[in-house]
Amino acid sequence: SEKLEIRESILHWYHRNKRDLPWRRDQEEDHDDVDRRAYEVWVSEVMLQQTRVATVIDYYNRWILKWPTILHLSSASLEEVNEMWAGLGYYRRARFLLEGAKFIVKEANGFPKNVSALRKVPGIGDYTAGAVASIAFKEAVPAVDGNVVRVLARLRAVSANPREKLAGQLVDPSRPGDFNQGLMELGATICTPSNPSCSRCPLSSQCCALSNSRSHESISVTDY
Ligand code: ADE
Repeated sequence: SEKLEIRESILHWYHRNKRDLPWRRDQEEDHDDVDRRAYEVWVSEVMLQQTRVATVIDYYNRWILKWPTILHLSSASLEEVNEMWAGLGYYRRARFLLEGAKFIVKEANGFPKNVSALRKVPGIGDYTAGAVASIAFKEAVPAVDGNVVRVLARLRAVSANPREKLAGQLVDPSRPGDFNQGLMELGATICTPSNPSCSRCPLSSQCCALSNSRSHESISVTDY
C-alpha cells in the first residue's frame, strides 16, 4: 500500500543518509543502557528544538561529559546548567532539563518509558515525549516538529489536525525512532523551507506538492 511504500522509502533513505551524530550511537540491550540512551535522546531533543544541529553537537558533548546520567544532572544547580547553556538561547530549556531530571529521579522508577508517563514530567511536551518514546523505547508514536510539519504538509497537503493524525498513522511500528528521525532529517536536509531538493527526495513519486508544482512554495508552521 501507499503507507507501506512511504515507510519503506523513509527508512531506506534514512539508513543511507543519516548523519553520524553523538546522540545516535548504537542502541544496546542492557537495561541501564536503555535509560542512559533515553536521557541522551532527551537532552539532544531539547537542545535541537530551537537550535541547529551544527551548533548543538559541541554543547551536547560538553553536557554529557559533565552530567553523563540523569542522576548526575539531578544534583546540578540552576547556575551550573545555565552556565553550560550559555550561548544556546531560550534558557528555560536548561531549567526544564534540570527540573525534569529532579522529578524523574525523585518520583519515577527509572526513566519514564512511554508517551503518557513522559508527558507527566515538567517541561516535556508532546514533541519531546514522542521523540524519546519512539527513539529510545521503540513506541510507535509520532514526533512532529517544524520540519515534519513541512514534509507532511507537502506530501499530503494536509492542515493542522489531520497532520498529527497522519503522522500517527504513518509511523513505522517496528522502527518508529528511525522513521521519525528520517522525517526530521528529510525536512532538515532535502525538504527545506525554500528551494527543496525534490530530485534527491525519496518521497518525490508520492508527493502532492511536487505533482501540483507547488513544492517550491515556502511553508512555515504558522501557515497551518
Ligand atoms: N531535529 C530535532 N531532533 C532531531 C533528530 N533526532 N534528528 C535530526 N534532526 C532533529
